[in-house]
Amino acid sequence: MTNKFAALATLVFFSGTVQADGFVEGDAQAGQAKSITCGACHGQDGNSVNPVWPSIAGQHATYMVEQLLAFKNGTRSAPLMLGQVMTLTEEDMRNLSVYYEGMSPAAKSVADPSAISLGQRLYRGGDRESSASACSACHGPTGRGNPANSVPAIRGQYAVYAAAQLRAYASGARKSDGPTRVMRDIAATLSEEEIVAVTSYMQGLQ
Ligand code: HEC
Ligand code: HEC
Repeated sequence: MTNKFAALATLVFFSGTVQADGFVEGDAQAGQAKSITCGACHGQDGNSVNPVWPSIAGQHATYMVEQLLAFKNGTRSAPLMLGQVMTLTEEDMRNLSVYYEGMSPAAKSVADPSAISLGQRLYRGGDRESSASACSACHGPTGRGNPANSVPAIRGQYAVYAAAQLRAYASGARKSDGPTRVMRDIAATLSEEEIVAVTSYMQGLQ
């Protein structure tokens, strides 16, 4: 926690790419050197070409470091990622995360136009009947998340991937949200129709 705040003062800029948040201290060049294998699934520019694999370009480094640790310690189980993180040190994780944070996420359109109104309503206002919280309260009106609190950006993320994550939170298979259980509790209130609609809407956010 403390290094997040200490790093606040030093905003890092990368020429030709999006501005990195500057909450995590890492060496983007060293990260790039380690990123060759990652590109096979996440794309060389961090934009995955397969909708079941997440795009990580422009994702917050605070969040990514936590996820890489979660894959390693098993609170988030993903066989494809476990093999990747086993040999990474925490320093490698910081370097890789700072590298991908500085890349530009590719814009996408909504996955299913017919689901926009339900998806948008839920995203912006939550669901009073099931008491689901408005997603925008934490992920922001345009899906940019919040690096200070490790809230991931979800704009332009593949709906197929994001929906699979919501189901994994709902079933308790993904526990990387920690003791607050914030996403496990929210996802458990969503119907399958709402999961498909809201992730379709998020894919179209820019
Ligand atoms: C063989 C394919 C593959 C390779 C290679 C791979 N990943 Fe992944 N990665 C995945 C999949 C699949 C997921 C989603 C896992 C899940 O379902 O929870 C993922 C998830 C992630 C996430 C979490 C994203 C999010 O939005 O929560 C990060 C960060 C990540 N990978 C970084 C890396 C890095 C860094 C490397 C290289 C060291 C790497 N990956 C190599 C397939 C891969
Ligand atoms: C109180 C804050 C909060 C609210 C409200 C919230 N989220 Fe989240 N969300 C988070 C945090 C924090 C994480 C990261 C948790 C972790 O580390 O696993 C997250 C993770 C996610 C992920 C996984 C992203 C990835 O790349 O793997 C998805 C998808 C998601 N949220 C969708 C939603 C949707 C849809 C809603 C509304 C129905 C919502 N969230 C409401 C805080 C919130």
